[in-house]
Amino acid sequence: MTPRTSKALLLQKLYEPYKKCSACPLGLKVQHNFVCGNGNPHTKLILIGEAPGQHEDEQGLPFVGKSGMLLTKTLECLGIDRKDIFITNIVKCRPPNNRKPTSEESKKYKHLFLLKEIEIIKPKVICTLGATALEGLLENPVKMGEMHGKQVLFDKNIILIPTYHPAYILRDPRKFNEWFADLQKAWNLSQE
Ligand code: URA
Repeated sequence: MTPRTSKALLLQKLYEPYKKCSACPLGLKVQHNFVCGNGNPHTKLILIGEAPGQHEDEQGLPFVGKSGMLLTKTLECLGIDRKDIFITNIVKCRPPNNRKPTSEESKKYKHLFLLKEIEIIKPKVICTLGATALEGLLENPVKMGEMHGKQVLFDKNIILIPTYHPAYILRDPRKFNEWFADLQKAWNLSQE
C-alpha cells in the first residue's frame, strides 16, 4: 500500500461506520447524507466549514451550494483547484431546519472526525471558515472581526488561520477583499 492510498483508506475507514443514518451522531431520525470531507488527502491545506446545507445534504459533498460556488470561484482566482486541497465541515450532517450546530454537537463531531481527519492528513495550515468552525475547534467563543487573517495557536505543528464564512461574504460583499487576503495567506503559508 502506498502512502497515497493509505491516507485515502484511513479516511474511508473513519467515515464508513457513520454513513448509515442509524449511526447518526446528531441522532437525526430523517434520511440524510453524512457529508464526508472531500479533496486531496495529501494536501498541506484544509478548509473547515460549519455543517452541510440543503445542497450539500442532497449531493453528499461539502460546499456545493451558493456559498460553495463563491468559495470554489475565489479559490480559482487564487490559482487553487479545490480538488488539490481538502474541504470539510466540523459537523458532517445537516442540522434540522438549517439551524447552526450547537457547541456540544460541534465538540462531538470534532472528536469523532475532525481531529482524526487532521491527524491523517497532517496539513501545514488549517483555515476555518466562519465562527462556528473556529469556536468548535478551539472550544471557546471567538471574535471573528479581530481574529480573521491572524495566526492562531492551535497545535505546535499546524498554523491556524481563521477567516469569514462564504455565506457572510455573500451577505456583506464589502468584506470580500479581506476574505480573499486571508485565503491567500493560508494558501501561501501552506506552500512555504
Ligand atoms: N456551509 C458550510 O459551512 N458548509 C457547507 O458544506 C456548506 C455550507
